[in-house]
Amino acid sequence: MLIVLVGLPGSGKSTVGRQLARRLGLPFRDSDHDIEARIGCSIREFFEREGEAAFRDIEQEVIRELTQVGPCVLATGGGAVLRPANREQLRRTGCVVYLRSAPEELFRRLRHDSQRPLLQVADPLQRLRALYEERDPLYRETCHYVIETGRPSVSTLVNMVMMQL
Ligand code: S3P
Repeated sequence: MLIVLVGLPGSGKSTVGRQLARRLGLPFRDSDHDIEARIGCSIREFFEREGEAAFRDIEQEVIRELTQVGPCVLATGGGAVLRPANREQLRRTGCVVYLRSAPEELFRRLRHDSQRPLLQVADPLQRLRALYEERDPLYRETCHYVIETGRPSVSTLVNMVMMQL
C-alpha cells in the first residue's frame, strides 16, 4: 500500500509520515529528501540558482519514481500538487491524505524557518495565506481524506490517519 501525505509546508507531513510508517511497518520516503540527494545541494540553494520551474521538473520526476517503488509512506513537498500530472499520479497510485492546517497555525510553527525558499519574504504569514488560497483546492482535489491537524499531538494525528485507511 502506498500512503501519500500532502499539505502546506509545516503541516507535519514528514513528522506524521515517519511515525505512521513505523506503526504500519512500511518504509518512509520523503520526496524533498530524494530531490536534495539528486541535485546535490539544498532545495533553497537550487531555487536561488536554477529557479522554481527547474525544481518542479525534478520534483515531478522524483514523484513519478517514488510512486513506483512499492508500498511505503510518502511525504511530498508542499508544492507537489501544483502540476496536474502529479495530482493525477498521486491520486491514482496512492491513498492520499491531506494534512490541513490554517495558515496562522503554520506560521506559528514556521516563523523561524530559514530553509523554505517560498517563505523567505518580508511577510511570511501573508505568503502562507496566499499559498493556502491557491493550494487548498488542489490538495482537496488530489486527496482521498482530509485530516484537520490543528494542535493535536503527532501520535493523535497518526491515529487519525490510521483510522481512515
Ligand atoms: C515547497 C515546499 C517544500 C519544498 C520546496 C517547495 C512548496 O517542502 O518542496 O521548498 O512549494 O511549498 P515542505 O512542504 O516539506 O516544506
